[in-house]
Amino acid sequence: MERPAWAPRSIDISVPSVSRMYDFYLGGSHNFEVDREAARRAMEFMPGLPKIMQANRAFMRRAVRYAADEGITQFLDIGSGIPTFGNVHEVAQAARPGARVVYVDHDPVAVAHSQAVLEGNDDAAILAADLRKPQEILHSPEVERLIDLNQPVALLLVAILHFVEDEDDPYGAVAELREALAPGSLLVLSHASYEGIPLPPERAGGAVDVYEDIRNPLIMRSREEIARFFEGYDMVEPGLVAMPRWRPDTAPEDEDPYAFSGFAGVGRTA
Ligand SMILES: C[S@@+](CC[C@H](N)C(=O)[O-])C[C@H]1O[C@@H](n2cnc3c(N)ncnc32)[C@H](O)[C@@H]1O
Repeated sequence: MERPAWAPRSIDISVPSVSRMYDFYLGGSHNFEVDREAARRAMEFMPGLPKIMQANRAFMRRAVRYAADEGITQFLDIGSGIPTFGNVHEVAQAARPGARVVYVDHDPVAVAHSQAVLEGNDDAAILAADLRKPQEILHSPEVERLIDLNQPVALLLVAILHFVEDEDDPYGAVAELREALAPGSLLVLSHASYEGIPLPPERAGGAVDVYEDIRNPLIMRSREEIARFFEGYDMVEPGLVAMPRWRPDTAPEDEDPYAFSGFAGVGRTA
């Protein structure tokens, strides 16, 4: 198989990756046949997966605009993925020129492609790091250069926590990050759930099994479990809701039924 320039030598391109599968669902071109094959298998069980991903990106863009409108000029986006249309720095810097963004991902393709996209942008950077090690993120040269932790930050954990298993203590990692944030900071979060999926759980479970097979389990949490990530935050209206219902620009009823799978919300530190 030919290795394109955006694929670092270190990666095993015979193993599917969740960030490249996500890129495929969104119509991107940074994916290999193994990724497309796994994504198509998941879509046999849950044909609406691309709709869920589109609703997630649309939520993320609305939340970034909300943060910018609230006066936030610093963004820490952990699990940022392979850059695609309407990235956080584009939305944030369009609303607030000079807004600073640090992207974090542990996937080498996401990191390599982000580096290429961010070349020449002094206000944005990508860090190769893991959400499960928050101190490495907080004390990285990228965060130290671009983010003043004494001022409010928008912390984005968008469609990442469902890849962190309970034994890896996702609640502890989210709490450690919160403790580092100044008052008035925002947590922007979305998370997969069986609640809201327009399918019987056995059918949706077939798609979840595909992620298990590629050794990147997808942890479906209940609304209550997802709400616990917001401990220490006050929820911004309308709270933790289906993605199209979070401050929609257009009537949420017009969305595809799949878009209502999972939950999204924004919290503010007191
Ligand atoms: C579904 S994508 C979401 C991308 C983007 N946040 C969005 O919502 O459009 C999830 C991303 O999280 C990254 N990821 C998963 N677990 C991670 C971890 N423990 N640390 C850092 N990144 C992680 C994956 O590599 C992938 O790029």
